[in-house]
Amino acid sequence: MSSAEKQRVVVLGVSGGIACYKAVELVRILVRTGFKVQIIMTRGAMEFVTPLTFQTLSGNPVATETFNLTQESEIGHINLADAADLFVIAPATANVIGKISNGIADDLLTTVLMATKAPVLIVPAMNVHMYDNPILQENLRKLRRIGYHTMEPAEGFLACGYEGKGRLPDAEKIAEEIERLLKKKDLSTERVLITAGPNREPLDPVRYISNRSSGKMGYALVRAALRRGADVTLVTGPTALEPPIGARVVAVTTAAEMREAVLREYPNCTAVIMAAAVADYRPVMAAEKKIKRSHGAVELRLEPNPDILKELGQSKDGKWLVGFAAETEDLTANAQKKLREKNLDMVIANNVAEEGSGFDGDTNIATIVDRTGAIRSLPLMSKDDLADRVFDHYLALKSRR
Ligand code: CTP
Repeated sequence: MSSAEKQRVVVLGVSGGIACYKAVELVRILVRTGFKVQIIMTRGAMEFVTPLTFQTLSGNPVATETFNLTQESEIGHINLADAADLFVIAPATANVIGKISNGIADDLLTTVLMATKAPVLIVPAMNVHMYDNPILQENLRKLRRIGYHTMEPAEGFLACGYEGKGRLPDAEKIAEEIERLLKKKDLSTERVLITAGPNREPLDPVRYISNRSSGKMGYALVRAALRRGADVTLVTGPTALEPPIGARVVAVTTAAEMREAVLREYPNCTAVIMAAAVADYRPVMAAEKKIKRSHGAVELRLEPNPDILKELGQSKDGKWLVGFAAETEDLTANAQKKLREKNLDMVIANNVAEEGSGFDGDTNIATIVDRTGAIRSLPLMSKDDLADRVFDHYLALKSRR
């Protein structure tokens, strides 16, 4: 961070769990990176670490009580809420998550959080059974639905003696996530159309053919684009994912419907990213009535669906086109062939047969090829990280034009 830039403020809420000691390390990293860190501790947190530790490391007074006159005049709970560029709760206990998700503000941390307009990152840490508890999971889902960011706990030995998911992620990982969420709004002039998920092609009123796409990569791209200030339209096939808040969402089922929606939105966008696993084939005829078992053997005749991306490539008109290539062999060569044949600017290729890459998982191993001939192989990373890498590459390529 250059000194000319305004120092960004992370308000860090620390709630009471053994993982508090890792929040100490997090403060050290954030301060070293150049953030101003303002800490709010709950009563529980103070049972594990003293405010003096956080105060010494952050160089700022630590807020602990709502009705303390000295603290209120020195820090001020509304000032804290307003000052935050990002509000992080780490560790977040089951109790604090339960309170926040139900609108309870009965201590300083939950009160300031209620008053902030900054983006919020919740980093849970608790016993594995508490984390698995459906009440806790429902509370987290609710928070995600209203736009809060959450991190998954890490797996391993827990202080309570159990083994499983519940550890606070390493401080470096949390700091990385904080940096990602605070990335500057470098896509604010872009209107991005993103497709995601599979298609379903009906065979009869109760059956369809589809593919294994979960939509996770496309939705990660939507979240990254929104965070970086883009205007985003998502055309999505059927998925089990929460629609991201802030995007215009057009839900479709078949490839033909997806084509229609994409062509309708195309004139208004600056870039299209086709992350959808468009169904290449559809049944020649969908039966009007349910096909009965008494029919015996059924022969399926399939016909190809139109190639949406190829069609877009034929009328680019200054727009940028990004495709995906799901491959099981000759990754780079196949990706470059798609780039050429569909007249694209970038292709993100991944070997779907490789562990940690492709359908349904939360990670991907991708190679980005672009129209200048550059080939960039990326290591295993989360789909959220990859989404940012795609936009970084996109902006770098665009600035060279
Ligand atoms: N795509 C599309 N319309 C289709 C098929 C694919 O727009 N009917 C898009 C996908 O969204 C993806 C890119 O084209 O961005 C490549 O998709 P992929 O399935 O890897 O390639 P195909 O062109 O279908 O070629 P093949 O299946 O033979 O590898």
